Amino acid sequence: MQTSIKKTIFSGIKPSGDLHLGNYLGAIKQWVAMQDDGNCIFCVVDYHAITVDQNPAELAKRTLEIAKIYLAAGIDPKKSTIFKQSDIKEHTELAWILNCAAARMSDLENMTQFKDKSQNGEENVGVGLFDYPVLMAADILLYDTDAVPVGEDQVQHVELTRDLAKRFNNKFGETFRIPKAETLKEGARIMGLENPQKKMSKSEGGDNNCVYLLDDPEKAAKKIMRATTDSGSGIKYDKENKPGISNLLVIYSLLADRKISDIEAEFANSGYGEFKAKLAEIVQNFLTNFQKRYYNISNPKALNIFKSGAKTLNRKAKTKLEVVKKKIGIL
Ligand code: TYM
Repeated sequence: MQTSIKKTIFSGIKPSGDLHLGNYLGAIKQWVAMQDDGNCIFCVVDYHAITVDQNPAELAKRTLEIAKIYLAAGIDPKKSTIFKQSDIKEHTELAWILNCAAARMSDLENMTQFKDKSQNGEENVGVGLFDYPVLMAADILLYDTDAVPVGEDQVQHVELTRDLAKRFNNKFGETFRIPKAETLKEGARIMGLENPQKKMSKSEGGDNNCVYLLDDPEKAAKKIMRATTDSGSGIKYDKENKPGISNLLVIYSLLADRKISDIEAEFANSGYGEFKAKLAEIVQNFLTNFQKRYYNISNPKALNIFKSGAKTLNRKAKTKLEVVKKKIGIL
């Protein structure tokens, strides 16, 4: 009998805001490329979204939107499993067990995302926001995940997942596979268009700081034209001294599938305007084609994809949780 040696790949996105080029280039695009490398599982992590206030109707709409974005980006349900977190109750059950048996307050206090998001006064911060990385660890560990393709901002959470898994294994015997974060060399941190010192983010900066995947393509092109560039001239990748142009070069390189050095050579005698006009055109074409696919996918189709994804994963999640419960003496 032949046994499968394919690795398990797991990742997810929370439906807490409109998805942007950072989410696409840092995460989804690499997932599409990984589909033939392993057993891929891509989740819409709706229980993560409610760690901050959500408008219920918006949350429901965005949850479906993300499934459709996965499909439009090229995640193929024949190759990969797409599901939503809340359909498999073992995620929250395992999170509780990890809370009690592995996670420490000091681990969570050190998470930079928690520190950033709770800056405006701890009294208004929900317990869920603090505990969020443990739920993320449960997502990953439930499926014996090998690789977690994410952007740079999630690497610390995957490191914590590794620590929790090791701690649990040491206490109760070999139970969890130790996963690894996978990030792109370039593109793991797409920066804001207006403020290239900070990452492009659903929650930070104004509308012009992000290109959203569902932006009107012409409007998105204008955002590129308006993007902050650096003093001086020259299309050169230099993160320290030219953060704006370097960020645009990374976006160009990933969208056009070309090496940064080739793009630099092409624009060696050009100014910022010419370079940005070309990138604006690339972004506009990308969004036009992406959205053509997106708007052809119906909500019922997205719901069906969720349903069949949960059906595929249910047994695996249940079996894993049974093993974990047995280890800790829960009958
Ligand atoms: P989320 O929803 O904030 O972001 C989804 C993915 O997009 C990446 N990303 C970026 N990559 C490059 N440049 C950027 N500017 C940028 N902004 C966002 C993120 O790194 C991420 O990969 N906690 C996770 C969701 C999650 C998860 C999981 C991920 C929950 N459980 C299990 C992997 C495995 C989050 O909030 O991602």
